[in-house]
Amino acid sequence: MNNTGVEKKRVLSLLQPTGVFTLGNYIGALRNFVPYQAEYECVFGIADLHSITVRQEPAALRKAILECYAMGMAAGIDPKRSAFFLQSHLSEHSQLAWILNCYTQFGELSRMTQFKDKSVKNPENINAGLFTYPCLMAADILLYQANYVPIGSDQNQHIEISRDIAERFNGAYSPTFVIPEGIIQKFGNRVMSLQDPTKKMSKSDTNKNAVVLMLDTKDEIVKKFKRAVTDSEARVFYGEGKDGINNLMEIYLCVTGKSFEEIEREFEGKGYGDFKEAVGEAVFAALEPIQSEYYRLIADKAYLEECYREGAERARPMARKTLSKVMKKIGFI
Ligand code: TYM
Repeated sequence: MNNTGVEKKRVLSLLQPTGVFTLGNYIGALRNFVPYQAEYECVFGIADLHSITVRQEPAALRKAILECYAMGMAAGIDPKRSAFFLQSHLSEHSQLAWILNCYTQFGELSRMTQFKDKSVKNPENINAGLFTYPCLMAADILLYQANYVPIGSDQNQHIEISRDIAERFNGAYSPTFVIPEGIIQKFGNRVMSLQDPTKKMSKSDTNKNAVVLMLDTKDEIVKKFKRAVTDSEARVFYGEGKDGINNLMEIYLCVTGKSFEEIEREFEGKGYGDFKEAVGEAVFAALEPIQSEYYRLIADKAYLEECYREGAERARPMARKTLSKVMKKIGFI
């Protein structure tokens, strides 16, 4: 409740701990979580259960989970204001996911583009978890009765299926789940690869120059931007057929707050070299304070543990309440 006695709306989002977060994770998702904390009841999490649809080495996974948690905090998730947890600490996610599996059709899951893409990338491990992944994601969202889910545009299809599942369940019984709404930023909702600007920037890219990581050094970041694939026109403006420049302009807009017009004016008469360098420098300037905070936090394992334990305890009553309501409606004793 807020001080006017009105129930606060709930915001929720999770990120997978499959390595250091990318600039795409930051611009498309993480940084947008932060302002919600002033006004809404926020629930954030590290989606460790989701990450095992691809084989993970145990020690590396353990390390990545903690590092991603620390990075979430460094970027501005405040564990005193938000429930910030590790997904596997709340068994309710797996329990509701099983139930939702039984309210989701094979045909709907077959149409998920992420399933199709990942099956092509990992033909040797097309496991059932990869297929039913959207049910776990729906469980993450519906358990907390989330109103808003800030995400990058690649996750939109998963929000749509979560809404469909919620509506189906509500229709079969009685209103049980809040129907969630995906929140996608106008700019930066799909940060593209620096080496192939028709493809999403993704952690799993084998070309390291394609991806900026949140822990890259200034030198690495500037070099990656200098090598970014653009076009031969040598004029900085946002337009059709300029995927590479459009991507860099969007990134620059997101980290500096300048408009496209201002950016075009700033680089009028200048070549792509100057522009790319400016983007690299601006990206580093945005990441530098987060990096310092990250290194401070990751050195304090006891504090991180305190935070994720507290986060789970804060989330648990919300999750339990929904799960028991669901189980009762279904007819379990
Ligand atoms: P994940 O871990 O792949 O990505 C985390 C968030 O980062 C966004 N993102 C991007 N945004 C813009 N440009 C990019 N290149 C880019 N790459 C990633 C994603 O859209 C996402 O918002 N299934 C989810 C995690 C998840 C979740 C949830 C999200 C699990 N349960 C419940 C919301 C609600 C995923 O794999 O995101």
